[in-house]
Amino acid sequence: MKKTILVTGGAGFIGSNFVYLLLDKRPEYRVVCVDALTYAANIHTLNKAMESPNFVFYKEDIRNREGIFKIFEIEKPDIVVNFAAESHVDRSIENPGIFLETNILGTQVMMDACRKYGVERFHQVGTDEVYGDLPIDRPDLFFHEDTPIHTSSPYSTSKAAADLLALAYYRTYGLPVTISRCSNNYGPYQFPEKLIPLMINNARHDKKLPVYGEGLNVRDWLYVEDHCEAILLILENGRVGEVYNIGGHNEKANIEIVKIILSELGKPESLITYVTDRKGHDQRYAIDPSKIHAELGWLPKTMFKDGIKLTIKWYLEHTDWMDEVTSGAYLEYYDKMYGNR
Ligand code: NAD
Ligand code: TYD
Repeated sequence: MKKTILVTGGAGFIGSNFVYLLLDKRPEYRVVCVDALTYAANIHTLNKAMESPNFVFYKEDIRNREGIFKIFEIEKPDIVVNFAAESHVDRSIENPGIFLETNILGTQVMMDACRKYGVERFHQVGTDEVYGDLPIDRPDLFFHEDTPIHTSSPYSTSKAAADLLALAYYRTYGLPVTISRCSNNYGPYQFPEKLIPLMINNARHDKKLPVYGEGLNVRDWLYVEDHCEAILLILENGRVGEVYNIGGHNEKANIEIVKIILSELGKPESLITYVTDRKGHDQRYAIDPSKIHAELGWLPKTMFKDGIKLTIKWYLEHTDWMDEVTSGAYLEYYDKMYGNR
C-alpha cells in the first residue's frame, strides 16, 4: 500500500517545489496538500500536480483544529511535513500577530493531530534565522545546530517558538519529530516580495530596485531543489529528535545579487535605489552543513552562479505566473512598503 505524506503550505514557494519532487521521485507516496491559500500562495502553481492520481488538495487553515483533524481522519497520513507559515520578515514587522498564530499555534494544531491519529514522522521546516545573525567581518563564523537561539524579528521568533514546541512534543509525548533549518532559498514559484523575484520583476519592468541600507547584508543562498532533496533525505534517513541545518557556502551580499540580476537582464545599474534599512536588519547568515553531510551525505548541488541563471530564466519564461501574483493586492502591498521609503 502507498504511504501518505501530508504537506502543508504546498501552494507556496518551497512547499510546491517539494510536492513536485515527491510526485517525480517518489511515486510510492500519495501526496496530500493542505494550504489556506493566503496571498503568498498560487493555486495555479499546483495545476500540473492536480493532474496526478497521487495528489489531493485541501484548502484548509492549519489554525483550524476541527478542519485539520477531519483531514487526518480521512487521509490518515503516515508522514507530515509542515511548510505552512507566514514567511516574510518585513510583513512580520508590520503585523506580528498573524505570525504568532500561524507559525506557533498552527504548528501546535498540526502536532496535536499527529499525536491523536499517530504518524511515523512530523517534520518541521525551520529557518536559520532562529540563530540571529553573524558579524559581516567574521567570515570564520557559521551557524551550527547547537548555536544558541537568538532571534531578531517577529518572524524568526515565531519560527523559533515552533521549533522549541516541536522538540517539547518529542520529549514530552514522544512525537517522532525532525526539524530542518535552512538558509535563504531561491528558485521557481517564489512570491515577489522576497529579494530575488522582486528584483527580477522590477528590473523587467524598468522599475527601481530598492536595496535596503547599503546592500551589504549577506545571505547564504540555497537553490530550492537542493533544499527539498535534503528534507526528503531527513524524512527517510534522519534521526528522530534531531535538528539539521541545510545550506552552505553560497554567501553573497545583497548588492552583488542585484547587480548580477541587472547584468543577466541587460539592464542598467542606475535602476538601483538605496532605501531606508529594515528595522533590526540581520547582518549575515551562514550555515555549517557538516552534520547533514556527515550523517546523510547531503551537500548542495547547485552553485549560485548556475542557480541564479536557472531562476532568472524561469521567471522570464513564466511572466504569466508573475503577472498573476503581482496583480491586485500585491500592488497595494508594494505601495505601502516602498511608497515612502
Ligand atoms: P511561502 O510564503 O511562499 O508559502 C507559505 C505557504 O503557506 C503559502 O502557500 C500559504 O498559503 C501557506 N499558509 C500560510 N498560512 C497558512 C495557514 N494558516 N494554514 C495553511 N496554509 C498556510 O513560504 P516559503 O518560502 O515556501 O516557506 C516555506 C517554509 O520554509 C516556511 O515555514 C518558512 O518559514 C521556511 N523557510 C523559508 C525560507 C525561504 O528562503 N523562503 C528559508 C528558511 C525557512
Ligand atoms: P528577504 O528575501 O526578505 O529574505 P530574509 O530577510 O528572510 O533574509 O531579504 C533578503 C535580503 O535582501 C535581506 O537582507 C533584505 C534585503 N532586501 C532588500 O534589500 N530589498 C528588498 O526589497 C527586499 C525584499 C529585501
